[in-house]
Amino acid sequence: MTEPKPGWSEADSRSFVDIGDVAVPSRAEQLSMLLSLIPADADEEFLTADICCGEGIFAERILTRFPRSRLLALDGSPMMRERASKRLAPFGDRAEVRSLDLDRPGWVDELRGPFRCITSSLALHHLSGESKRALFCELSARIEPGGALLVADIVEPATETVRIAYRDLLNAVAKEQSLALTGTLGAFETFQKEGWNGFVQSLQPPGEMPSRLFDQLKWLEEAGFSAVDCFWLRAGTAIYGGFK
Ligand SMILES: C[S@@+](CC[C@H](N)C(=O)[O-])C[C@H]1O[C@@H](n2cnc3c(N)ncnc32)[C@H](O)[C@@H]1O
Repeated sequence: MTEPKPGWSEADSRSFVDIGDVAVPSRAEQLSMLLSLIPADADEEFLTADICCGEGIFAERILTRFPRSRLLALDGSPMMRERASKRLAPFGDRAEVRSLDLDRPGWVDELRGPFRCITSSLALHHLSGESKRALFCELSARIEPGGALLVADIVEPATETVRIAYRDLLNAVAKEQSLALTGTLGAFETFQKEGWNGFVQSLQPPGEMPSRLFDQLKWLEEAGFSAVDCFWLRAGTAIYGGFK
């Protein structure tokens, strides 16, 4: 059984399932934006992969929006995979949920593409900058012409002033979302107590390695993507990517 890597535990999976909608800025809007950026017509037949799919919420959206698509959902957490498998079961063999260890060399070689789109939401910051850079190249080689790599992730603030601005806005957004979604501040208090605001300290804990957005855009271009850009950003979480 694959265990989550340092930096992410099964307790984190449990907590994220419980408070993800509060801890992530405008999560529903992020998922809608990611979905809108997938370069495909609704009736096309194609393959996608979602790296670190969590409980399969975005995968479900993709399979629903594109009823002839197939999807490979990958994650390191047994609990997340179990939840994703249940969520995606109604799609039958259009969805496959598979174990992933982002840190295991060679895992990308096992991906059977070509993919129209590869997505990853809120997970690639568990890789170092150099590993992200290498991964963008490896994924680029597996994406078909006209396809895309789309990433949502927290990004490293460009300066200390930016970090404080992200920290304060994320706290305000999480508080507002806690009240709006649950009617209480309980989820916001958990968000604070469990350290879900990654901008509170200037030094990241082990396993948390967000990279500067500007650097990642350069690495995407270097990996052969075009129209590379940031398509959305709020409180230190950005949606960015490029097209082949
Ligand atoms: C914050 S959650 C995001 C889940 C999902 N993408 C979403 O947006 O709802 C991060 C996910 O990354 C997975 N993960 C973290 N580190 C990992 C690693 N080293 N290898 C594989 N999966 C990992 C966790 O199990 C978790 O499901």
